[in-house]
Amino acid sequence: MNEAEVFLNLLSDFQELGFVIVKNTSAEEGTVIKFAEMFGPIRTTNFGKHFDVVSKPQANDLAYTSLGIKAHTDNPYRKPMPGIQILHCISNEAKGGDSSLVDGYAVAEYLKINEPEMFEILTTTDVLFKFVDKDIILENYGKLIELDHNGKYLQSRFSGRLDYVPYLDPLQLKKFYAARKKLFHLYESEEFELNFRLDSGMLMMFDNIRVLHGRTEYDVNTGFRHLQGCYIDHDSTEGKLRRLKSNL
Ligand SMILES: [Fe+2]
Repeated sequence: MNEAEVFLNLLSDFQELGFVIVKNTSAEEGTVIKFAEMFGPIRTTNFGKHFDVVSKPQANDLAYTSLGIKAHTDNPYRKPMPGIQILHCISNEAKGGDSSLVDGYAVAEYLKINEPEMFEILTTTDVLFKFVDKDIILENYGKLIELDHNGKYLQSRFSGRLDYVPYLDPLQLKKFYAARKKLFHLYESEEFELNFRLDSGMLMMFDNIRVLHGRTEYDVNTGFRHLQGCYIDHDSTEGKLRRLKSNL
């Protein structure tokens, strides 16, 4: 990564695809911080500068259990949502615990063409997202698919366990839930979901406002699984990419 060309290729791929997977980093703890800081400052949250994805007793988030987690964007209850997530695998010895990524932009484009009515309701309905634990209550509203003032795709939000029922009349609410269900099925469909396994020393960086991520359930009795994650902002990747391109 000290070579400008390698850095430039990684950032260009990230910009285009919304994610990159890096192999053969280190299996040491703290690698995720070192990697993130090559791009820019880390976005610290109430989970800390980084978070450890391991199974914990009395977990305040599904991530800290061994349960499967369907495709979602992280922390839609924050203002603003964390822009980019980096997840580094220290150990993945347990049975299960495979990873997945889904391009929310590709799914939005599919819906726009094939299900215009559903697309309309998903892009116009405000949904409340909320996080509650003993120290803090975080809330934010947003659309499951958000467009800018020109109708261009801006971002996806999806977390099936953090969203609340929107204030709509019953008929509209029924339509909204049919559209949400369709969206959920597309996110977990073979057509859109990439499945792979993160092994020790591998790392993935993905755009948290475009790409959804998930994992399958794992069995804590079959081996240790430990990932470390953190967030950075788009300014860091976009800003570095512009700098590197203008140096050419
Ligand atoms: Fe997550």
